[in-house]
Amino acid sequence: MSELAGPPVPGLAKLWTHDPVTAGPYRLVGRLGAGGQGVVYLGEDDSGDRVAVKMVNVDLSDPRARSQFVKEIAAARRVAPFCTAQVLFAEVDGERPYVVSEFIEGLTLHRHVRERGPVTGNALHRLAVGTVTALAAIHSAGVVHCDLKPDNVVLGEDGPRVIDFGIARALGNTETASSRVMGTTAYMAPERFRDDAIGPPCDVFAWAATIAFAAGGRPPFGTDSLFAVMHRVLHDPPDLPAMPPVLDELIRECLAKDPADRPAAERVLVRLLRQDGRVTEPLRRESLLEVGNETAGAPTPDHPLPQVTPTAPQPGGTQPQVPTQARPTQPAHLPVSEPGVGTGGGGALRRLRREAVDAWGISTALFLGSVGAAAGYVASSALGPSAAVGGAAFVVVYLVRLLVATALGSRSEHG
Ligand SMILES: Nc1ncnc2c1ncn2[C@@H]1O[C@H](COP(=O)(O)OP(=O)(O)OP(=O)(O)O)[C@@H](O)[C@H]1O
Ligand SMILES: [Mg+2]
Repeated sequence: MSELAGPPVPGLAKLWTHDPVTAGPYRLVGRLGAGGQGVVYLGEDDSGDRVAVKMVNVDLSDPRARSQFVKEIAAARRVAPFCTAQVLFAEVDGERPYVVSEFIEGLTLHRHVRERGPVTGNALHRLAVGTVTALAAIHSAGVVHCDLKPDNVVLGEDGPRVIDFGIARALGNTETASSRVMGTTAYMAPERFRDDAIGPPCDVFAWAATIAFAAGGRPPFGTDSLFAVMHRVLHDPPDLPAMPPVLDELIRECLAKDPADRPAAERVLVRLLRQDGRVTEPLRRESLLEVGNETAGAPTPDHPLPQVTPTAPQPGGTQPQVPTQARPTQPAHLPVSEPGVGTGGGGALRRLRREAVDAWGISTALFLGSVGAAAGYVASSALGPSAAVGGAAFVVVYLVRLLVATALGSRSEHG
């Protein structure tokens, strides 16, 4: 293993003889593990900043596979940093494509439960909140995880973090993806065994199965043969461990056989936070994610990530295709992404739509409109003119607030 610049990492294994020794600007200093998608290495740059480098077993020589990979990884990079390990960049031109993401130090949930037993009480609540916060952030960026399971949750010292989102989808229907079915069946939603469309509800199902595993030490449809598990997922009710009533009810709803019957991740988060009084009124999405992040034990993510410089030209002449990005210093604004809507002008339009129905803005305009009407009535003692003054005050206050809020939102998102 090449020398570590930073503190030791428990469980880090030596590089194998034929392992690569660099990935872009990073020295690879050991193996973090290996799964169905490839091998994950710990990378360090010159200043000792650490990343996880996943070398994926995939042939991207087919332009369609390559463009799907680039598209999905670019989407994964837009996921807000709430309880997630940020995707930094990907290299797709070399012989061995790889994805670089934030390194989270800690045990995976799978290993934690195997070695230390089930998660209970407050720790279970925080785990449920943290992982569903991550899922809500992932879905609001238009990404579907497609492989949420206890191996893809790392229990960092500042709370749980979901890793590997978007990678399964980036690999599409390649052989690598289909040969992995064996390992993850226990967390796969029924629609994944049919030829049905796959969307966010399949992650909600996987989230519920993951939390049930954390609480009881076994997934709710068992772990025996592939066909037995698949049969139970498709036809049987889940076998759940004892859990607090609110969580139990939520998990059952999320494990519904029909994806249309499952609540969205954001709804699950609201219900979990309502239970402990953290949310009593409707919150905007970004505030909701912040509360979820905080409840899970994570600090507001205001520290910049290791600044990644663009990869120097490689011996094989390769360059990263998906450029580098640091964690936003002010994550209060979630990069909302709607299918078919680009960034730039689309962002302003979305913000305008969001502000147009903002309850606080409408109430303020209504209040000032009534004040205007009352003042008009005092001045004129006539109903007609005072109603006109009130109406005009409402319209002016509403429009001015709408324009100012949209403009300020736009500046803070781009600033
Ligand atoms: N961002 C990360 N930070 C810290 N450790 C990581 C990170 N990504 C991966 N790891 C470690 O590498 C191990 C292997 O990850 P990998 O994703 O290859 O396997 P997996 O999750 O078991 O299976 P799959 O390929 O289905 O995702 C993980 O179990 C985890 O310990
Ligand atoms: Mg993984």
